[in-house]
Amino acid sequence: MRIDVVSIFPEYFEPLRLSLLGRAIADGTLQLSVHDLRDWTTDRHRTVDDTPLGGGAGMVMKPDVWGRALEDVLGGHESTAAGARPGRRVLAIPTPAGTPLTQRLVEDLAAADHLVIACGRYEGIDARVAEHFARHIEVVEYSIGDYVLNGGEAAALVLVEAVGRLQEGVLGNPESLAEESHGAAGLLEYPVYTRPVSWQGLTVPDVLLSGHHARIARWRRDRALERTAHRRPDMFTRLRGDQLTWEDREVLARLGWARTPAGPRRLVLREGRAEEAAALSRLAAETFPMACPERMPAEDIEAFIRANLSPGRFSDYLGDGDRYLILVADLAGDLAGYTLSVLPRTVDEPPYAEDVAAVVPIRPVAELSKIYVRASAHGSGVSQALLDATLDALARRTVLGVPLAGVWLGTNARNRRARAFYERAGFTLVGGRRFQVGGRVEDDAVFLRALVAPPS
Ligand code: ADE
Repeated sequence: MRIDVVSIFPEYFEPLRLSLLGRAIADGTLQLSVHDLRDWTTDRHRTVDDTPLGGGAGMVMKPDVWGRALEDVLGGHESTAAGARPGRRVLAIPTPAGTPLTQRLVEDLAAADHLVIACGRYEGIDARVAEHFARHIEVVEYSIGDYVLNGGEAAALVLVEAVGRLQEGVLGNPESLAEESHGAAGLLEYPVYTRPVSWQGLTVPDVLLSGHHARIARWRRDRALERTAHRRPDMFTRLRGDQLTWEDREVLARLGWARTPAGPRRLVLREGRAEEAAALSRLAAETFPMACPERMPAEDIEAFIRANLSPGRFSDYLGDGDRYLILVADLAGDLAGYTLSVLPRTVDEPPYAEDVAAVVPIRPVAELSKIYVRASAHGSGVSQALLDATLDALARRTVLGVPLAGVWLGTNARNRRARAFYERAGFTLVGGRRFQVGGRVEDDAVFLRALVAPPS
């Protein structure tokens, strides 16, 4: 690749002769030439600027001087060998008013055959220069950040280094391109460490010394996700669902995000609000049928929804905080799921059904009556996060001053996915019960989990 830089301060680019880039320039992998814009002036004072037309502060760089310089530099070097396809030429103009320079833009520019960088000073270059050259070649006006520098030189150094290191043969170890920040993963890079293992009272995380490659890879991925979520939520929300693995869900949920097909979305787990009765009823009507056995008649399902999941019933639940706890999963402002727990009014109140009371001996005990998540949020980590938050909230609840000792639930005996889900959360199967939906009696498996109140 050939790079020409035009500036009134050619000395500014001396540092490029150092290090890896310097070696690439010395051995011809990268052909870099730096030119003094004043070589194309025609007056005794070598003037490159003039006052802005229309008034205003500062000076503007003259189009005629720039025009001559760029014609020469662009035309002076044939980008390709005779007879070959004309090389791709790009004129890059650093300006705080340009498009942000991203790794994607750098990768695109690195694929050009000839890059010419025109460094403006003062208030910038007469706008007709970019307009004129855009009639013949690609012109990219770019910014290296939302701040203002005195001229384009520092931004040109940035571009040469970013583009230069992507040229074949420039980096000692090209593998280091694979995992770095702003790479294909769309995440910031994980933190890195070297010896000594302990320094200033700070020790390197144990996992990095374990030699266990899969665990190290997982740890690094988790840290990359965390960093990106905290430091660059803009990058984070731009991740696509297919860039996130199923394993990523747990760390996302811990960070308050859920994996959705469109990428991570903010997940807030909180108590339901009185004004959400209608929304919860709609969500319940949408999700309840998904958990019903296939052979259950639609009328029975509808009758159950009318009787137990109407807006009126949800108003009752939301209005009786001693008896009911409703937690909702608020996914980017939409209700994606909810749990309904039923709390005992007295310390020794048994579960309402006799067959459950017989197998659930601990008191005070609550029932996790419903946990439903919208189909579109299945696999997002919402269900797990919602269950964790519910168990956490129940562990903090007391009945007349006595902490809840456990929580039970009934789930369809044939629903293996649900059973595995509860077992993973620490529930154990303790028995069965008969459960009525409409005119039918269903067999439920009864699960129980002890609760441990957190230290106050
Ligand atoms: N020239 C002055 N400020 C600049 C910036 N932020 N990016 C690119 N060129 C500039």
